[in-house]
Amino acid sequence: MPSSSRGNRVQNAAIAQRVMSGEEAAALIQPGWQIGMSGFTGSGYPKAVPMALARRITDAHLRGQRFKVNVFTGASTGPELDGALAMVGGMQMRLPYQSDPITRKLINAGEMQYTDMHLSQVGQIVEYGFLGKLDLALIEVTAVLEDGRVVPSTSVGNNQTWIDCAEKVILEVNSAQPMELEGMHDLYYGLGRPPYRDPIPLTSVSQRIGEPYLRIPVEKVIGVVHTDSTDRSSPFKAPDENSRKIAANILEFLDNEVKKGRLPPSLLPLQSGVGNIANAVLYGLEKGPFNDLTAYTEVIQDGLVSLLQSGKMISASATAFSLSPDGTAQVMPRIGEFRDRIVLRSQEISNHPGIIRRLGVIAMNGMIEADIYGNVNSTHIMGSSIMNGIGGSGDFARNGFLSIFMAPSTAQHGTISTIVPMVSHVDHTEHDVSVVVTEQGLADLRGLSPTQRARLIIENCSHPEYRAALQDYYNRSYRLAGGKHTPHLLAESLSWHSRYQRTGKMLRQETE
Ligand code: COA
Repeated sequence: MPSSSRGNRVQNAAIAQRVMSGEEAAALIQPGWQIGMSGFTGSGYPKAVPMALARRITDAHLRGQRFKVNVFTGASTGPELDGALAMVGGMQMRLPYQSDPITRKLINAGEMQYTDMHLSQVGQIVEYGFLGKLDLALIEVTAVLEDGRVVPSTSVGNNQTWIDCAEKVILEVNSAQPMELEGMHDLYYGLGRPPYRDPIPLTSVSQRIGEPYLRIPVEKVIGVVHTDSTDRSSPFKAPDENSRKIAANILEFLDNEVKKGRLPPSLLPLQSGVGNIANAVLYGLEKGPFNDLTAYTEVIQDGLVSLLQSGKMISASATAFSLSPDGTAQVMPRIGEFRDRIVLRSQEISNHPGIIRRLGVIAMNGMIEADIYGNVNSTHIMGSSIMNGIGGSGDFARNGFLSIFMAPSTAQHGTISTIVPMVSHVDHTEHDVSVVVTEQGLADLRGLSPTQRARLIIENCSHPEYRAALQDYYNRSYRLAGGKHTPHLLAESLSWHSRYQRTGKMLRQETE
């Protein structure tokens, strides 16, 4: 398809008949509906219909009518979806991941429900009806071909599941997404139901096991909306001193693993989580000694594209792009150059525990805090307030060959230690964490007992300002708990958080 003009983007005659405006499409949505929307880490999410829906919800609220919907996605979206709907109080319930500041505020104010889930599991849970009926799939796509095959957009996420499970489908056909995306996706249609599931025939990162198109029954399509706007993702912070040190610590560790013969010289497929530090690590790898790298991951960030461009990385598999605005502007116009080296899959496959284990993925994810025994909190501030969600970190951490968690040793301008006696919320247990790393250093926890881990984490990872306090906590716990397996002084470990909570809160208010 040579042209990317609007008219040419919907070539199927039956589907072309259902073209309408965003307002008309939003008018088809009823209060209380459960809607599966496309979108993963700020890419490939619908833009016109959610904004029109937000306006409709505002009108309803002005008339004193209650209008809320439940929104399921792949992961986080953009301001036109989460931001717009949260702003008007239009979401009753949200899953499985978000990172929008207004949505976060509503969740933490108890004004909307949020179900934070492992991303690999969402499809199956919806398919089996555990979350009730799915009324609508609202999916951004790149184009609809003459024979009805549909070219996905910049993310795949749960789109095929939403289309399969929903009663009705509305498509947003976004002509700002390059047609050169065609051929980059790999939709696998062979996942049966337990106990009759065949092995998924995926044995290498770049392998294609499905087809590049979404399958949409024409009779389900009740509306098609043309849009023309790029994904609006957040910029990455330029790597700071701490991120560079964390990246250097990880690189040194990986280098030693290669020297010891525990990793091949091209490493194993990499997974890199969301966030600024994860992105900084990818940039660090560009200057590192490793070549012929691959990635079996969830998102293609700027740093990953840079690795592909530099030739350090051969190929990458993910479910979505997660590019900064600069990254989008630079990469999307020449996306065709990457078509053979990037594969975008459904999140059930990109995050599949069996494949992650089969390929031996090196998982690298950000954390909010780790405790001295190696339990990790990725999601909650001070135990109660959600930040984003677990995302795919659990899929990769539990099943990876190596599971690395990283953060600066302090947060909020040094007022909070990210190494604590006991995490205020557990996302990844001590059993799923191989390595903890901060700018201070790295603790390789593999094969160590809890007390060995505690000594190493305090010594290698904690900030000097908090090290003595952590050491003192550990020593007294060990003594008073009589040298038990995982010594704790429970009342004290919990008050560690409240002691710093007031300072942290005050500081945040000052900087807001
Ligand atoms: N106490 C209080 N605040 C803390 C904190 C702590 N222990 N740790 C971090 N924060 C705050 C930071 O100060 C920062 O606040 P600000 O926005 O007001 O400056 C904010 O949390 C984000 O921290 P930042 O250092 O910018 O982290 P990041 O961008 O590297 O993201 C996570 C870190 C943990 C939030 C992010 O990695 C995440 O959401 N992880 C879970 C999902 C995941 O791993 N997905 C990947 C699967 S592929």
